[in-house]
Amino acid sequence: SMFEKFQPAKADPILGLSKLFQVDPRAEKIDLGVGIYKDDNGITPVMSSVKKAEARLLQEQNSKAYVSLAGAELFRDQMRDLVLGDAVAADRVATLQTPGGTGAIRQIFESMKILNPDCTIWISDPSWPSHMNMATHMGFKTRGYPYFNNETRLVDTAAMLNSFQDLKGGDLLLLHGCCHNPTGANIDMDTWKAITDLVIEKGAMPFIDIAYQGFGDGLDQDAAPLRYMASRVPEMFIAASCSKNFGLYRDRVGIAMMIAKDASTAELVQGNLAVLNRLNYSFAPDHGAAVVGMILADADLRAEWMAELEQMRRAMLTIRKDLADALRQQCNSDHFDFIAHHRGMFSRLGLNAEQVLSLREDHGMYLVGDSRINIAGLAGKRHLPFAIAVAKVATVS
Ligand code: LMR
Repeated sequence: SMFEKFQPAKADPILGLSKLFQVDPRAEKIDLGVGIYKDDNGITPVMSSVKKAEARLLQEQNSKAYVSLAGAELFRDQMRDLVLGDAVAADRVATLQTPGGTGAIRQIFESMKILNPDCTIWISDPSWPSHMNMATHMGFKTRGYPYFNNETRLVDTAAMLNSFQDLKGGDLLLLHGCCHNPTGANIDMDTWKAITDLVIEKGAMPFIDIAYQGFGDGLDQDAAPLRYMASRVPEMFIAASCSKNFGLYRDRVGIAMMIAKDASTAELVQGNLAVLNRLNYSFAPDHGAAVVGMILADADLRAEWMAELEQMRRAMLTIRKDLADALRQQCNSDHFDFIAHHRGMFSRLGLNAEQVLSLREDHGMYLVGDSRINIAGLAGKRHLPFAIAVAKVATVS
């Protein structure tokens, strides 16, 4: 039969872990898997600014008729400004509302299918698994570029820049705008400048995926590398997500942006983007995007949202410091100090598969297989039992 041609589905490396966690009966278990923010009680709350905007929407919305194919203009304009600031003229930017940041990645890949199907898509090694999975699923050639130095747990800048010498004109270079997933190690500003020079020299197409703006060093600070590059290159793709910084995970709110060399080219792009939504699923979901548009455009709601986001960011920074301190004590070594220097929601600890398995089976600590932890999963002083467990499985000097 037709359906039997399917191969049994592989468990998702990140979402599969949540299932295992749910059926674990141990009370002391800790979920450090999927990237969702959690408070001290392990809850992923709806932000108060979001609740208020939703209440207002419920009051004011008098129709569920379709919005435009490209999505709500208020949302798209506000998001363009939130991400890009004044780095480029607004009329050079085409925007498309998408179902989540993943939807934006998909639509950008769809565009490359039209613009340069023979391109190689360059993806950091490691990266968020869906980057590579989606690119290969769509039949693109891919190349992983060196990113993480396993010894220092920092970006391997020299190896990365060296590999970019092989970039070809029209290749797509996918970079994480901030808060690298899964490592937590981020490219410094000097290196961003060097990458920008290379992209221009080689005629490669930069694609910045920014899913965690506001989770690293602050809203503007996290966007600074992206804005720098945008101010210099003629063309660029951006995928942005509101899943994390607005806590709107399940509502699927994202945006694809394409910076064109001038306003008339941007208009050409904009028309094609709307068609891409039509061809794939017609309209992106409206509710979450309407909430984001309302929050960003209203001074009070925006201030409240920014304060809530800043509180989350600071909570994660505190956990980083507390965990690094606890590990220094438990392991009697500064081996894990890098955790305090990493930024964003994740850190890759550099443990091997056996150690990750032992943490899960013997201690109820659920890390992704590559030893990525969700920092927010350690809220509520969970960093203490975690540090004790890590010290038991890891032999460090
Ligand atoms: C993660 O990396 O955990 C998040 O981006 C959630 C996801 O979709 O994988």
